[in-house]
Amino acid sequence: MIRLKEEEFAEIVEYMRQNYGINLEKKKTLIECRMSKELEKQGVETFGRYMELLKKDTSGTIASNMVSRLTTNYTYFMREQAHFNILRDHILPELSKNHSRGFLNVWCAGCSTGEECYTIAMILQDYRERTGNLMNYRILATDISNQVLDKARKGIYTAKEAEALPAEWKNKYFRAEGTKSYCVDERLKQNIRFQNQNLLSPGIGTEQFDLIFCRNVMIYFDKKAKETLVKKLEAGLKPEGYLVIGHAELLNRGEIQLEPVFPAVYKKYKEKQR
Ligand SMILES: C[S@@+](CC[C@H](N)C(=O)[O-])C[C@H]1O[C@@H](n2cnc3c(N)ncnc32)[C@H](O)[C@@H]1O
Repeated sequence: MIRLKEEEFAEIVEYMRQNYGINLEKKKTLIECRMSKELEKQGVETFGRYMELLKKDTSGTIASNMVSRLTTNYTYFMREQAHFNILRDHILPELSKNHSRGFLNVWCAGCSTGEECYTIAMILQDYRERTGNLMNYRILATDISNQVLDKARKGIYTAKEAEALPAEWKNKYFRAEGTKSYCVDERLKQNIRFQNQNLLSPGIGTEQFDLIFCRNVMIYFDKKAKETLVKKLEAGLKPEGYLVIGHAELLNRGEIQLEPVFPAVYKKYKEKQR
């Protein structure tokens, strides 16, 4: 394993913080473990030399590889299931009142390998079929890591990864790939656009959504990046829209117009409620 010198460690921490908001201050060993192979691939023996190459690389490939290695992409189907029950029982009945003829615009920010946006799509599809509500939907699923987006786009999961899904959904929304994996059906895929997007980039936040899921992303951010992100999420919500964050995350509501309506679920009211 290639060791990090203190000044190299500081440089990487600062680079990741400034460009992606990710706080790696206490993750020296993680950087060494996850990046050593990447350094070998580039044929360099020190992190200092690697960062020189990264800064010269106008294609952005080296930076993209580093980000893919240093982000935490842990996710699974039906994660924090209480949110999906709230979506089914409260949010969708509310939102569908205004959208019975239009479409529901959903953003899954920090979608990782796709389990979260496909779970949302199954809930929406199921809701339509159960209630006869003809509301259409489209989901924008974004992440900073190309590696996870490749897997998300393919939509192929092992039996173990698909374990948490009800058998009925596995039959309905997946087709078996051999004996050991499941592939997401086109019916779900056609409603989802996957995009590489840095949540801290100035360009984002122009489109407006009825529903945003951004769970377990800001938990890795430093305070300033978190504040920037929350403002973008708020701006990206239509009035009466909902924001869902991770149960371990908390919004400082001082400066924003979002009211908590369920645990880790916020609503953007037209006017401030307090
Ligand atoms: C722990 S996963 C959470 C996945 C899913 N939302 C869930 O709750 O299961 C966090 C994801 O956020 C992505 N991420 C981290 N920083 C980001 C940034 N600045 N812009 C976009 N995505 C980012 C990571 O690549 C990772 O896939």
